[in-house]
Amino acid sequence: MKVQPSGAVCGATVSGVDLSGELDASLIAEIRDIWLAHRVLEFSGQSMDDDALERFTLAMGGFGEDPFFEPITGRRNIAAILREADETSPLFAENWHTDWSFLPKPPAGTCLLAIDIPTYGGDTLFADQIAAFAALPDERKTFLRGLTAIHSAKGAYSPDGTYGKKDTGRSMAIKADESALATRAQPLIQKHPETGEEGIFSCAGYIIGLEGYSDEDAFSILGELLAWQSSDAFVYTHKWNSDSLVMWDNRAVLHRATGGYEGQRRELHRTTIAA
Ligand code: SIN
Repeated sequence: MKVQPSGAVCGATVSGVDLSGELDASLIAEIRDIWLAHRVLEFSGQSMDDDALERFTLAMGGFGEDPFFEPITGRRNIAAILREADETSPLFAENWHTDWSFLPKPPAGTCLLAIDIPTYGGDTLFADQIAAFAALPDERKTFLRGLTAIHSAKGAYSPDGTYGKKDTGRSMAIKADESALATRAQPLIQKHPETGEEGIFSCAGYIIGLEGYSDEDAFSILGELLAWQSSDAFVYTHKWNSDSLVMWDNRAVLHRATGGYEGQRRELHRTTIAA
């Protein structure tokens, strides 16, 4: 197994390993160590199908919950991140986020398996939130450590949200509903449960307020913080290859989709890894 760091703040490409067959425990333990070190891994040269994607996800910790996705036919835990070539609805997941941060137990990680990759565009961006926190002045760290963030999926998945009843013509199977209105308080700065490193958990988007602050003050703090969280110095741009599986650590990075592939189809199969 060869690990080639991306050269950016996080991310590495792993080659020389075949994830399509049985996965022994020592291989999975080695992959987990590399994943915790680099936060985003691309496994290149893969020929994985949905069975292999499920086996790998189970080996990495089991399936996490996917509250607002309809799974693909015949599978309970795989969703398609899909955009047809002629689709005109707004891009899915174009804002920075960490997956399902409003759940009681947000997922540890997410896997995306390349199915249909455009010839250009459609990169996925990752922003390292452990590096972003570490680079802050001590005084700012102390202030942020005292904040409790209020998370909710309402802006995206409630009936009036981005993917709610106004969202027509989308090929992805999203099921918005009232449960997205729920809120959940989480510390803004969290220690990574496996490495103990402190990082900024989630961002404006799923974070809709701060306990003890007016909306105006909270959005001013969160807006300024998001600009820092997504600064170029903390971002790795992943360019997709058609034989890749990518796995990221939701406890350590934010991510977002990008466009730039108009007129081409893009499909990835996604699983979440339970915490
Ligand atoms: C996602 O947020 O799961 C999708 C990322 C992408 O489409 O690049």
